[in-house]
Amino acid sequence: MKTHRVAVVGCGMLARSVHLPNCVKNPRIKLAATCDADPSVAEAARKEFGAERSETDWKKLVGAPDIDCFILATHTNLRGAFITAALEAGKPVYTEKPLAPNRAEMMEIVACARKTGVPVCVGHNRRSSPAILEVKRLLDRVRGGAPAIPPTIFRGKDRPPVPEQHWQSLLLRIMDDARSWKDWIFHDEEGILFSEMVHFIDLALWLTPARPVRVIGEGSVRGNFTLIYRFDDGSMATLHHSLAGHFDYPKELLEASVGHVTVAMDQHIEVRQCGLGDEAGLKTFPWAEDSPWAKERGMAAYFSEIEKERALAAREGRPPRWLNVTKGHAAHLDRFLTHLEGRGENPCPVESAVAVNRLALKSLEAVRTGHPVALGPEDWHVV
Ligand SMILES: NC(=O)c1ccc[n+]([C@@H]2O[C@H](COP(=O)([O-])OP(=O)(O)OC[C@H]3O[C@@H](n4cnc5c(N)ncnc54)[C@H](O)[C@@H]3O)[C@@H](O)[C@H]2O)c1
Repeated sequence: MKTHRVAVVGCGMLARSVHLPNCVKNPRIKLAATCDADPSVAEAARKEFGAERSETDWKKLVGAPDIDCFILATHTNLRGAFITAALEAGKPVYTEKPLAPNRAEMMEIVACARKTGVPVCVGHNRRSSPAILEVKRLLDRVRGGAPAIPPTIFRGKDRPPVPEQHWQSLLLRIMDDARSWKDWIFHDEEGILFSEMVHFIDLALWLTPARPVRVIGEGSVRGNFTLIYRFDDGSMATLHHSLAGHFDYPKELLEASVGHVTVAMDQHIEVRQCGLGDEAGLKTFPWAEDSPWAKERGMAAYFSEIEKERALAAREGRPPRWLNVTKGHAAHLDRFLTHLEGRGENPCPVESAVAVNRLALKSLEAVRTGHPVALGPEDWHVV
């Protein structure tokens, strides 16, 4: 088994809660260095996760012989300069989303990745969530011709099909809680719409085999907005975000219908489908490894496990534990390592993230101006 000597640049909330623990758990990774502009953060992360060394200046790491590849987990304040330097030094980069703050910086990264041939993977990790991979498999079967079984009430037997029956209709609902977000999201000009929605814009593009032609947006870019994307085959994707929800409510719901098959994914723990007669109607997926206390699986269990945990925590006089789910972070990184070893596809190549980023920027424009914004090849095609 090959060992990848990884350095993590930016050791804030996401790195400490996700990437650094995932590096420690992954037998293919040796944590070579932690790097943060704040020396106390870099050193604390080194100690907590057992890295060989810590550093405050990423420029000292890019050419270092003891590092094979990087995880970049800073905000978009550091993207192009770092990624291009790492690629020039022959070191692959797993970068957090959003890929870059603007179109020019994105293209610098793409040009450098093409020139060097060194891979970049973008952290649109929902693509590696087991539940979402199952959604993709089911939708691909429908597109591959798997027929839907007839409904119990079937009045349209003698009617020729209407085109709308073949347009995909996708809903992505994100139930968020303003009280659980860090302050920066409310100071940042682009808000959650840019920093967080790229995950879901990525899913909308990844799951819809058509070109987006228009976005309509309404709400506040900080949170509480609805975005509607229209595609050139008639398909539509609606992204609905709310900051008025409760953090402990299941946050992510996806519902896709096409060709009379409906596939739903709830909080990465349950996939339901109706229409494919040879597939199970309900599948459940495990909780995250850091929630071993939850025993039952599936959406019904979500609520009963939370209620049981609240009661137990009250009896024990401690705060209730959070019920965490697997959103694909560890698998996304692991798939990238497999790709680096020449044994699989890059789970999110940099070029596919360019369209996502550009659509996110156009979606900001749609919400800010209150007008529909046209999407064209300059958004989804990368020259
Ligand atoms: N994939 C996901 O599910 C997911 C979830 C949360 C956040 N994110 C993304 O992860 C990134 C980081 O988010 P966070 O919440 O951890 O932020 P954070 O503010 O907690 O951490 C960022 C860290 O980067 C460090 N940093 C900034 N500039 C640096 C530089 N030039 N060199 C070295 N270190 C530097 C900061 O000191 C800080 O410790 C963001 O891009 C965010 O969108 C992704």
